[in-house]
Amino acid sequence: MQSYIMSRAVLVTGGAGYVGSHTVITLLERQSDGDPLEIVVVDNLSNAYCAEGEKKPEALKRIEELTGKTVHFYKVDIRCAEALDRIFENHNIDCVIHFAALKAVGESVEKPLEYYQVNINGTCTLFEIMRKHGVYKLVYSSSCTVYGEPEYLPINESHPTGKSLTSPYGKSKYFCEEIMKDLCVSDKKWAIISLRYFNPVGAHESGRIGEDPSGIPNNLMPYISQVAVGRLKELKVFGDDYPTADGTGVRDYIHVCDLAAGHVQAIKLFHQPGFNGFHAINLGTGTGYSVLEMVAAFSNASGRAVPHAVAPRRAGDVTANVADVALATRSLGWRATRSLHDMCRDTWRWQEANPNGYHRI
Ligand code: NAD
Ligand code: WQD
Repeated sequence: MQSYIMSRAVLVTGGAGYVGSHTVITLLERQSDGDPLEIVVVDNLSNAYCAEGEKKPEALKRIEELTGKTVHFYKVDIRCAEALDRIFENHNIDCVIHFAALKAVGESVEKPLEYYQVNINGTCTLFEIMRKHGVYKLVYSSSCTVYGEPEYLPINESHPTGKSLTSPYGKSKYFCEEIMKDLCVSDKKWAIISLRYFNPVGAHESGRIGEDPSGIPNNLMPYISQVAVGRLKELKVFGDDYPTADGTGVRDYIHVCDLAAGHVQAIKLFHQPGFNGFHAINLGTGTGYSVLEMVAAFSNASGRAVPHAVAPRRAGDVTANVADVALATRSLGWRATRSLHDMCRDTWRWQEANPNGYHRI
């Protein structure tokens, strides 16, 4: 009787979204031909575009075109235990990268139940199914938001978390980290790496994959690029009276492809004998830029003007956020390599070629 062994698979929840799609393409690009690692994406398409009649979201179709490799896709909600169960039965899943979540900070204040439902219940459902199938390796998408108002800069992983959190979104990320810590205490088989992203920006260098916010962007970089391309009239600079060099807020922006590479490195830790427990790791560059520096850098990279005007501060914004990235360097052997110019240039390449995001077809 012929028997065969199913290839090892990485399950990527939310893999049709912004950070997820860049991680999927990076995993495929770095995969050596001799390593038959399957990529299985689960996404309910609540924030990812899929053309009518198509079986795969546009981002994944483009990834397949660019890499010549296949991505398995399931349109499934992470809260649906039965559907997840079937996926774990159909694939030999070795580890999970868990991106799926709702992420709009302001919206989470309006819709806390929806955010807790998806971000916390969905995450717990995923963990239950993982445990049922004996899969204990997980990379989690966390955020610098868990640190709240920074007590010092740069922020290392020992900085307190869970204090001064103002939005249900931020709390959901913090609560999930606490749940994951409890899981790791309860059973030594769990190996969980919580990657605390600072501010992801940029796009794949092909210009084919990028960030595609629905409606008016909440975040700075997509807003700037939509102003530059003429979709929006003017950027509002939220406050110029912060105690920073030019008065505007400072953030640690990181190219999404550097971020994606951090996930690839994180998965490698699972191969270390005895690696287990909960590990939180910052992913940033360690350098902060102000809103006005971002506007200037984007104008320079795109050759377009970015009209802007000062507006009142946005509720809940902190003055500055900059990562201490020493732990990422030490534990992952990783550091961000792309500059602010690269971030702006790649965002612009994507924006110019796809003025309406994935919806242009
Ligand atoms: P995104 O919205 O582009 O991607 C999330 C994906 O998850 C989307 O494709 C969406 O359709 C899917 N999804 C949402 N709810 C789902 C559900 N119930 N079941 C299945 N799929 C579902 O967001 P992103 O920017 O790629 O963020 C990915 C992760 O990184 C999130 O967990 C987010 O909280 C975290 N994060 C993002 C940022 C950022 O600024 N982009 C910063 C820090 C942390
Ligand atoms: C950056 C700077 C704004 C828009 C958010 C989440 C955080 C994390 C990353 C998920 C700030 C200013 C912005 C605009 C502006 N996400 N700004 N005009 O707030 O640092 O972080 O994304 O986990 O949790 O809160 O990012 O891009 O919204 O803002 O002046 O139209 O740009 O005030 O100083 P933020 P952002």
